[in-house]
Amino acid sequence: MANPNPASPAKFTHANIEKSVPLLLMLTFLVISLGGIVEIVPLFTIQSTVQKVGNIRPYTPLELLGRDIYIREGCYLCHSQMIRSFRDETQRYGHYSIAAESMYDHPFQWGSKRIGPDLARVGGRYSNAWHMAHLTDPRAVVPQSVMPPYAFLKHDALETADIDERLKTLAIEGVPYDNRMEIAAQSDILAQAGLGGDAAALTKRYPGAKVASALVYPGKLTEMDALIAYLQVLGTMVDFNAAGDPVGTVKP
Ligand code: HEC
Repeated sequence: MANPNPASPAKFTHANIEKSVPLLLMLTFLVISLGGIVEIVPLFTIQSTVQKVGNIRPYTPLELLGRDIYIREGCYLCHSQMIRSFRDETQRYGHYSIAAESMYDHPFQWGSKRIGPDLARVGGRYSNAWHMAHLTDPRAVVPQSVMPPYAFLKHDALETADIDERLKTLAIEGVPYDNRMEIAAQSDILAQAGLGGDAAALTKRYPGAKVASALVYPGKLTEMDALIAYLQVLGTMVDFNAAGDPVGTVKP
């Protein structure tokens, strides 16, 4: 197209830039660099951006295995785990999500779709028995539900053999799992499920961990047990004071 403004110098018109390869390359590079800087520079200050909160702890081995089942079954396709700072959301789900709450989630489960409700604060809202009934047959407890049933989780024995490797991998990502936690992982799983192990040691390593969930079958650990342990911890690690600030905030 002809230069619409004949008074201006023709040099930097779209048509001219597109016809000159060096100019096009230079300007493309400039624009990409600017975009890159805007995206990358804030990451250098991420340590002070994520406000540390005292009582956030890594997941216990049992919760972590439950989280893997949550991801495997694609629960995130229908459920988000991120409460936005809008009144309709905070009235329905509770305090909006803060960055520290997902700092040990690799990958995070914020999700982008809500066919079902947000689950970021579902921990403690229902009993284990309710979750068991709901996951077995959602329509048995919520007649209008469109959630699929996950009854098979009750029959699948929980695979725990590689839990120490999983903790090791997350430690590389920066989750503070240490050597002792890796060694004790198997016993911590049993302790949290109420199947033996050392419950006192478990709660020392993972403060606030809820011990002895009602098992599907007494004496046998199933995938259902792990998934429920995970659902029950969601959103329970941070207390908010009356002003809406997280209690136990560590100033950066
Ligand atoms: C096809 C979409 C879909 C999938 C997949 C799905 N859900 Fe749901 N979920 C729903 C809907 C819709 C509801 C609301 C009705 C109900 O309570 O059943 C719901 C409700 C829930 C609730 C109750 C939340 C509340 O606050 O009342 C929990 C807990 C839950 N789902 C967990 C899961 C888990 C765990 C998985 C994966 C194993 C999963 N869902 C997979 C659609 C889905």
